[in-house]
Amino acid sequence: MHTHHAFIAPAAERNKQPILTALAPRLPSAGVILEVASGTGQHTAFFAAHLPALTFQPTEADPARLPIISAFIAEAGVTNTLSPAHLDAAANPWPLPGPFAAAFCANMIHITPWACAQGLFANIGRLRVPLFLYGPFRFHGAFTAPSNAAFDDSLRARDPAWGVRDIDDLSALALAASLHLSEAVEMPNNNHLLVWHPTLTP
Ligand SMILES: C[S@@+](CC[C@H](N)C(=O)[O-])C[C@H]1O[C@@H](n2cnc3c(N)ncnc32)[C@H](O)[C@@H]1O
Repeated sequence: MHTHHAFIAPAAERNKQPILTALAPRLPSAGVILEVASGTGQHTAFFAAHLPALTFQPTEADPARLPIISAFIAEAGVTNTLSPAHLDAAANPWPLPGPFAAAFCANMIHITPWACAQGLFANIGRLRVPLFLYGPFRFHGAFTAPSNAAFDDSLRARDPAWGVRDIDDLSALALAASLHLSEAVEMPNNNHLLVWHPTLTP
């Protein structure tokens, strides 16, 4: 019985291969990759299957999703994953032991309050690892497509604290956390993979 199939996220099915293609050459070659807001776990399960030299740590704020993540991992038959952990991205500091080699977060910061973006950058800055942030973004006040502007409107209508985030606002969080935007990789459907790296400090 694969009851977790009721929870398949269509977006994650569509974007997991393009994200893997973009991530693979940019991720560290060893270590634990922390995933924030894993959702169903489809990304962690898929990446773990294709990147056997790495270990993946899925996390979620919604405790009901933890067994779903475990089910997708079990179905993928991978062993290079750690047990899904509870994590509220807005927590400061995060209660995770680590160490981590990098962090990945897809489609979270537009659909959560700004405090989650703040928590994400503050904690990743403290961990001093690269952050791979996937989703729709605004660039210096401009949407990359009308569909993203419409999506932003629909998000704000659902919750005024949500919305497509601007890379200028994210760069301000990054600066405070000693991170900087090193790459904005164009992805299908007007999404981007933003690569943030720790800034060298004397
Ligand atoms: C649109 S889903 C994306 C899930 C997955 N990353 C993907 O791309 O399929 C947003 C996720 O953010 C999670 N979330 C909401 N609030 C959160 C928080 N404070 N900290 C971490 N995750 C949170 C939700 O439970 C949900 O799984």
